[in-house]
Amino acid sequence: MSGVAVAHKQDPVAPSDPVVAQDTVLVLDFGSQYSQLIARRVREAKVYCELVPGTISAAEVRARNPRGLIFSGGPASVYDEGAPHPDPGVYDLGVPILGICYGLQLFAHQLGGGVRPAERREYGHASISIDERIGIFKGLPSEIDVWMSHGDVITEVPPGFRAIAHSLNSPCAAIAGPNGRYGIQFHPEVVHTPLGATILRNFLIDVCGCAGTWEPSSFIELAINDIRARVGGGRVLCALSGGVDSAVAATLVHRAIGDQLTCVFVDNGLLRRAEGERVVEIMSHQRQINLVHVDATERFLTALAGVADPEEKRRCIGRTFIEVFETEARKLGDIDFLAQGTLYPDVIESTSHDTHNAQKIKTHHNVGGLPEDLRFQLVEPLRYLFKDEVRRVGLALGLPEDVVWRQPFPGPGLAIRIIGEVTAERLDTLRAADWVVIDEIKRSGLYRKVWQSFAILTPISSVGVMGDNRTYANVVAIRIVESDDGMTADWAKIPYDVLAVISRRIVNEVAGVNRVVYDISSKPPSTIEWE
Ligand code: XMP
Repeated sequence: MSGVAVAHKQDPVAPSDPVVAQDTVLVLDFGSQYSQLIARRVREAKVYCELVPGTISAAEVRARNPRGLIFSGGPASVYDEGAPHPDPGVYDLGVPILGICYGLQLFAHQLGGGVRPAERREYGHASISIDERIGIFKGLPSEIDVWMSHGDVITEVPPGFRAIAHSLNSPCAAIAGPNGRYGIQFHPEVVHTPLGATILRNFLIDVCGCAGTWEPSSFIELAINDIRARVGGGRVLCALSGGVDSAVAATLVHRAIGDQLTCVFVDNGLLRRAEGERVVEIMSHQRQINLVHVDATERFLTALAGVADPEEKRRCIGRTFIEVFETEARKLGDIDFLAQGTLYPDVIESTSHDTHNAQKIKTHHNVGGLPEDLRFQLVEPLRYLFKDEVRRVGLALGLPEDVVWRQPFPGPGLAIRIIGEVTAERLDTLRAADWVVIDEIKRSGLYRKVWQSFAILTPISSVGVMGDNRTYANVVAIRIVESDDGMTADWAKIPYDVLAVISRRIVNEVAGVNRVVYDISSKPPSTIEWE
């Protein structure tokens, strides 16, 4: 294939094979809002785990050779029509299983016990009495606080099982059976079950026999072998955005295949001060990665001229990015693979309980969304990692702290922080104000404690006085938020003296700004970005 090889590759978009780690535990997802949290907790216990659809076949489970299985909770009742059930064959594999809530009811339903709707739904804090302090309950006190959330109760334990804990409302708050099978009515993964981590750890280490030594960095060797096996002698393209995910993905791929990798960094002119230079310095000069640096500032600014609507800005930027990226990719000739910094939460979102298919690739990603027909085979070395794990991998790969700990930054960049039309002059103003915010937030030790901290250039001018002169100049807003995942957020209660320095410096140092305000809205009902 020649010429526009990248635009018309016919190969199906296929995922990387799963990284086969030692001591894997599979979490079978039956639709609980906490499923992802279970996976996180297992990894915090230093055991590698993956979240898979609850309906995965027993053959697929066997192929992954897990040390244990965890059945998540779920919103359904085991009797509901269409309620997800595991392949009964998983019970014949002989591996330990921990059933949580709905998972426990599945045991009772599928293995010959009884389940019925509870007279009273149990939801929230509860206390349970542990009758046998063995297995998952080893070393625990006889009474523990737990978080309940269920509508069905066990009326009869399945043959071979026995109750090992009870609560006021339920004689079977936990059951134990043969082959290391445990079922619990409560959620050990949430913080409201204070000893939940110990219960999970007991299951993973004592019952399943996992070593508990997995680290995100143990993942590096496996990932490198995986990339080599997948790519062979092929050529890989990776778009760098300046963010941590694409930087770590590119570094990992480079470790694996060296010069078979080419990175393209499209500088859209919407980055923060000095960020473009930093990408080139680290990836090209320090790490010797083949890097095509395209300064497309003019092109993006021309495309954005006269555009004030937020969504139109995004579309404009997305479109221009694709045009520039495609042109560069074409120049490189025949490319087989596209490396992306897709993370596990995105993978889970597209492959977990909401689909029964084994894998479905999301086509959108960090760099601005590529069109459907731009078909490469994908290399996604981070697709089994959570964000904090990616950071640890980045550090283990020797990436500098400022790259690894960079706060999230939107793909459309400063364009969606300039309310109204984006011009070179307004970008300069915002960049200067943003620099002060980041500088002071870092100086006060808050940079890693908050989720994002940035400036917005509002379309408002206000009257001020500087010296003896009246001014009529821009109002800059400061947005600093705390969040776990960006889905919800609260405005950060920054010390007044830090805000005071930020305000004073912006008004003194940034030409054309005479007023600074602090945004005290939470998400919801507001959003983090203003556009
Ligand atoms: P909102 O403003 O929706 O932002 O509360 C949630 C998180 O997403 C980031 N964000 C974006 N990231 N392209 C991106 O890559 C976008 O268009 C975009 N809009 C918002 C935002 O910075 C925050 O972390």
